[in-house]
Amino acid sequence: MAQRRLLLAIMALAAVAAATGFEFHEATVDAIQLGFSNGSLTSTALVRYYLDQITRLNPLLHAVIEVNPDALAQAARADGERATGRRCGPLHGVPVLLKDNIATRDRLNTTAGSFALLGSVVPRDAGVAARLRAAGAVILGKASLTEWSAYRPAPNGWSARGGQTLVTPTTAPTISASFSSLFDRISSQGVCEIVHEESVRALVHPVRIEQRPICRTVSDAVHVLDAIVGYDALDAEATGAASKYIPNGGYGQFLRMDGFKGKRIGIPNGFFTQEIFEKKQLRAYQKHIQLMRYTKHF
Ligand SMILES: *[C@@H]1O[C@H](CO)[C@@H](O)[C@H](O)[C@H]1NC(C)=O
Ligand SMILES: *[C@@H]1O[C@H](CO)[C@@H](O)[C@H](O)[C@H]1NC(C)=O
Repeated sequence: MAQRRLLLAIMALAAVAAATGFEFHEATVDAIQLGFSNGSLTSTALVRYYLDQITRLNPLLHAVIEVNPDALAQAARADGERATGRRCGPLHGVPVLLKDNIATRDRLNTTAGSFALLGSVVPRDAGVAARLRAAGAVILGKASLTEWSAYRPAPNGWSARGGQTLVTPTTAPTISASFSSLFDRISSQGVCEIVHEESVRALVHPVRIEQRPICRTVSDAVHVLDAIVGYDALDAEATGAASKYIPNGGYGQFLRMDGFKGKRIGIPNGFFTQEIFEKKQLRAYQKHIQLMRYTKHF
């Protein structure tokens, strides 16, 4: 029943998208930027679409704990900046959701899903939040998680504030650069995560040191990675050594269709087992391995 209602909601959204010309559903960051530059899309329209999607789907999915009351204002500012002809990076005007343990010094709460922290005020934006803002991203809201990142025993995806989410979360802090990506985790496919050790300063309850952007494509994840990597003076120990290895010009230059050509990739046995993962996750994993193995570029 829930799935049927979800399907109907998604179909309704697809109809909305068809009417405006821009294909919102599952749009990638590159498509969004193309839409911005050819005039078929504004950041305001995009944020409206996602806010609408949250209103419709969240009662079923419980994926989002709070939406940002300033999201539309941030989108309008991004549209204004673009209109002045300013050169904008790939995340400029693009909505992102931050997991509820990534601190933001704004009107959003940061609570790790717990009522205990509701109304508390964090001293500053987490390093990744500050960098995403600087890149022009619109902070759409806070995504749900397993309360206290599962530090306190809780069912996977459950928190007191968010309820039981149907979206399988990770315990690492998560940045979702596309709302659909977050929802796609339901089917455990078509989603790219890049695990990257980053500044953990100003995370509420940092049980894990890596940040994990959840994105629609590898390319989207690389755009996020390029925005959030770097040395953070407030977190010198974690970021000092790693920041020396950030390539000049960022990671985007390595996005090549024939990137697998000539590469030998070791695939460890024993991690992806039925004890730990669900069948659909194992199927998705196998599918991706097969794709890498047999793609003609390999
Ligand atoms: C504008 O860009 C979008 C992709 O983001 C594309 O779907 C659309 O066809 C483009 N429109 C024009 C007029 O080029
Ligand atoms: C943050 O929490 C307070 C309750 O302490 C609530 O009134 C407020 O609406 C919350 N902020 C958002 C953006 O939901």
